[in-house]
Amino acid sequence: MKKRIYLDHAATTPVDPEVVARMTQIWTEDYGNPSSIYAEGRKARMIIEDARKTVAHGINASLGEIFFTSCATEANNMAIKNAVRDLGVEVIISAPTEHHSVWHSLLSVESQGVKVLYLDVDEKGRIDLGQLKALLEATPQKKLISLMYVNNELGTIHPVQAISDLAQAHDAYFHMDAVQALGSYEIDVQAMPVSFLTCSAHKFNGPKGVGFIYINGNNIIKPLLDGGAQERNMRAGTENTAQIAGLALAFRKALDSREKRMEHIRAIRKHLMEKLVSEIPDIQFHGDYDGTYHPKILSISLPLTPKTEILLFNLDINGVCASGGSACSSGVESASHVLKAIGLPENRRALRLSLSHLTTREELNRFVQILKENV
Ligand SMILES: Cc1ncc(COP(=O)(O)O)c(C=O)c1O
Repeated sequence: MKKRIYLDHAATTPVDPEVVARMTQIWTEDYGNPSSIYAEGRKARMIIEDARKTVAHGINASLGEIFFTSCATEANNMAIKNAVRDLGVEVIISAPTEHHSVWHSLLSVESQGVKVLYLDVDEKGRIDLGQLKALLEATPQKKLISLMYVNNELGTIHPVQAISDLAQAHDAYFHMDAVQALGSYEIDVQAMPVSFLTCSAHKFNGPKGVGFIYINGNNIIKPLLDGGAQERNMRAGTENTAQIAGLALAFRKALDSREKRMEHIRAIRKHLMEKLVSEIPDIQFHGDYDGTYHPKILSISLPLTPKTEILLFNLDINGVCASGGSACSSGVESASHVLKAIGLPENRRALRLSLSHLTTREELNRFVQILKENV
């Protein structure tokens, strides 16, 4: 049987074998509770602090600004809800194309009286910096900008440096969901100041169920969860030592081979786009695919027909893993809020293909052949 073709690296990535080995060692040998004062506990504590060093160093932050969480969803909830509760934020400026974990947190604080303003996005998912500037100027209240770095469905990149500059110039907090960017792009919180930055290990070949939040040292917030004093009183709950070490190792490996990985992804994306254009009639690309985009994500659409309606299902049967929208909504047949926001016509069937340094040309050639047979 032929190997399945995994084209859903924006949903999750396979865990790097070296990361698996490291985590297995911790699970089986270094399983002490990091809060215990005896040797096993101290060793686990040391593993976590080493991981914190790797992460802090990787984004040019201070050690005291990194807090490990159970995932990016938790980190995004924390940034938004705690900025409202503890920093007195009354107005949040965001976009209709953010991830569910941001969008639903915004709905939650909105129901408590916070004003949420959504920037317009164009057909490529791009925001207008002029509109952001005008909203900041017209908002005297304490404000938070919550915008992602790389859009998880479209690959479109927001102009994060300019957003950071605007936030500083207008005394606004800036929360950046960097889940799809970390490991692919250099992130330096000194060069590009942010108030909060959120990440998830499973997007860069680390394990699921672990992420982190960077909280700029000037922002004093209280924890989201009530409980023990872990993570210097910021995140209660026994630390997931193995996953935290796995996150750090995967991050370090991603940084070490960043350019090489990106070069490979750029080359195979070009190959994929050329093959799709030559083999599949009436294909369209979405997102800022010829402007500022992450090459790992390619959003495409095909005319809606009885065949393309069940395309994901048929691709799966034929050994291809792809997504209809974001992973959270794949499997559920409702149009994604992101595709609605960019105005994808109802007579188009969207497909998100997401690649990695592990994807091969041969897999992409096979995929295009399978797609051709199923549209
Ligand atoms: C942009 C973005 N933000 C947040 C998340 C949530 O990450 P996690 O799975 O760690 O909760 C995802 C996951 O798909 C994402 O793509």
